Amino acid sequence: MGEGRRTAAAGSGTQPKVAPACGVKEGSGSRSRFVGLSGGSFRAVGSFRGMSICWIRALAVVEGMAMSREVQEMFAGIAERYDVTNRVLSAGIHGRWKGRALSLLKPIEGEKLLDVCSGTGDLALALEGIVGRRGRVQGSDFCEPMLRQALKKARKRGVEDSRVHFVAADALRLPYRDGEFDGTVVAFGIRNLDDPVSGLREMARVVRPGGRVVVLEFGQPSFPGFAAFYRWYSRAVMPRIGGWLTGDRGAYEYLPRTAASFPSGRRFLELMEKAGLREVRMVPLSFGIAFAYRGEVKEAVGDAGSA
Ligand SMILES: C[S@@+](CC[C@H](N)C(=O)[O-])C[C@H]1O[C@@H](n2cnc3c(N)ncnc32)[C@H](O)[C@@H]1O
Repeated sequence: MGEGRRTAAAGSGTQPKVAPACGVKEGSGSRSRFVGLSGGSFRAVGSFRGMSICWIRALAVVEGMAMSREVQEMFAGIAERYDVTNRVLSAGIHGRWKGRALSLLKPIEGEKLLDVCSGTGDLALALEGIVGRRGRVQGSDFCEPMLRQALKKARKRGVEDSRVHFVAADALRLPYRDGEFDGTVVAFGIRNLDDPVSGLREMARVVRPGGRVVVLEFGQPSFPGFAAFYRWYSRAVMPRIGGWLTGDRGAYEYLPRTAASFPSGRRFLELMEKAGLREVRMVPLSFGIAFAYRGEVKEAVGDAGSA
């Protein structure tokens, strides 16, 4: 992220005033200058050209993300080839995993849903088709080039700008009010966060009491022969093919390395509980290569049966 963009943030001085995220204060500490845009700031833009303008405005308010700079830069470097590489490396299976995650989320028409670490927007765009005109979908990610691919994809599919908003934001500081969404989902993003439990708490914060938080993430297959094959595939084959397709072999060494060490299965459910989620459950996918997890946000005391 260039200096120019960083100093343009926060709507200070002579810079055009940019609306801060609804209900979110500018924080303090190492990430103190982060300011996000709310979806409302994008209203009245309906054309594809408008979509680009919205995006430029969104870029102007991203800052204070130094801690995850390496991850951000890594995804920026592979953004253009991310989708095709994913398709090749997973032989298309990642699409089915995403479908399973959505079936755990159980989205319905009219709901407000958030796709965190949205990347190239697969889940946000799938949700858009479900919530319909009465619903609202946001996709947030801190990597601008990934979100640009999401916008391109939306355009290609003829999705109007007003239907899905892609917002540049850190998953650890979501620019949304408490309880603003009916549900949030994150696919293959949680293990990249500096503090996954804080990420889960932040997802839970923006969901209404009784709403859902769904996570799709890599695991470690435990079925003996298959586990050995997958280890070989992810350590020897994946970096080679990923490097060949994107020019960044390191990014595809990072993926299996982080996936191999990230808590999965019951250990991840414990993290969800630590983040305050209840009714947690999981679905192993493809012998444990991935897992879909679901938790619910606690009803506020006094909510149950108060209607
Ligand atoms: C492996 S990609 C997954 C993208 C998409 N969800 C998918 O399943 O195809 C991980 C994404 O998480 C984003 N990410 C990582 N750390 C983040 C953070 N702290 N805040 C926001 N986005 C983050 C990256 O920029 C990247 O787009």
